[in-house]
Amino acid sequence: MMEVRKAVSDDCRCYIEVHCPEVKALPRNERLRVCGWWADYDACVSYLKLYRRLGGEVFTALLGGEVTGDIELLPHDDCLLGPRAYINVLWVKESRRGLGVGARLVNQGVKWAMLRGYRYLDTIPEKESVGFYSKLGFKHIGSQIKAVRKPKPLLLNADYGFREINVDEPPLGMKLITGTYRPGLFTWYSAWEDKYLPPQISPLAFELMIKENRVIILLDYYKENEASLVLWSSKMPDNELIRNAILISEQLAVEASIAKIFVQTWSRYEGLLRGLGYEIIDRDTIWLNKSV
Ligand SMILES: CC(C)(COP(=O)(O)OP(=O)(O)OC[C@H]1O[C@@H](n2cnc3c(N)ncnc32)[C@H](O)[C@@H]1OP(=O)(O)O)[C@@H](O)C(=O)NCCC(=O)NCCS
Repeated sequence: MMEVRKAVSDDCRCYIEVHCPEVKALPRNERLRVCGWWADYDACVSYLKLYRRLGGEVFTALLGGEVTGDIELLPHDDCLLGPRAYINVLWVKESRRGLGVGARLVNQGVKWAMLRGYRYLDTIPEKESVGFYSKLGFKHIGSQIKAVRKPKPLLLNADYGFREINVDEPPLGMKLITGTYRPGLFTWYSAWEDKYLPPQISPLAFELMIKENRVIILLDYYKENEASLVLWSSKMPDNELIRNAILISEQLAVEASIAKIFVQTWSRYEGLLRGLGYEIIDRDTIWLNKSV
């Protein structure tokens, strides 16, 4: 018998079997590095709390009482396409695939999105699971690119002011421009509060004012000297604003001795990033949408 219910802390002892049984024998830090928060009870409990604090939810699927999958849902109110619900993760235990568990979890996601008053449920799928989502009525409505660059000192003659900020000044009511692979507030709080996933370095954040536009910059470390650049804007930004925000972010990264910046953003900004000297490393990230 199949059951889907809200995740409970005890599920955190079982997710490792669902997501990454191959890491079970590794030391704790290695398990976390390879598999993420599903590989450790404390990290998992802390992430469940974060989902719920941000208005999200995690549901667990059970087959005959055995934990076999989960769906992790978040509000995505800072999406450039407008507010929507978002599937951050969907996973079914390998040995239990093809039995309808994934479809049932997505169905739960649709119900959750409707209950929360959203009109859409979106996701960025793993490439192999695009066919699965298509079967469930999801449509390809956009694409994203990934790009990298060694940050360069600033050669910009723009009128701007900035100040360093911290976790207590989250980018509320803003639009997420880069770092677009998951809802911005989840990125924001996990960057500051995550005590578990390597490299465990606090991020750097700045508020920037450029011509009455407020921009928030987050440099979120994914390695000791490499950071993902996440940008929010108070208004729908034009290319000049994004360009200037990226250049200023690079200067801040140089000052912090960051050797490489990673940017994920919408394909419409590919020309802009190329013009700034970014190397495009992936242009196949698909954005799927379903009306609910
Ligand atoms: C993608 C995934 C969640 C599907 O879960 P599942 O329980 O095997 O899927 P279901 O059994 O509910 O399948 C529902 C339908 O989709 C089809 N389907 C399942 N996986 C598919 C795939 N990869 N490509 C095309 N169709 C697929 C099934 O055949 C079924 O079709 P039917 O209704 O005509 O019989 C699972 O394979 C998985 O966890 N993959 C690894 C992680 C992943 O890719 N997650 C999603 C992105 S975050």
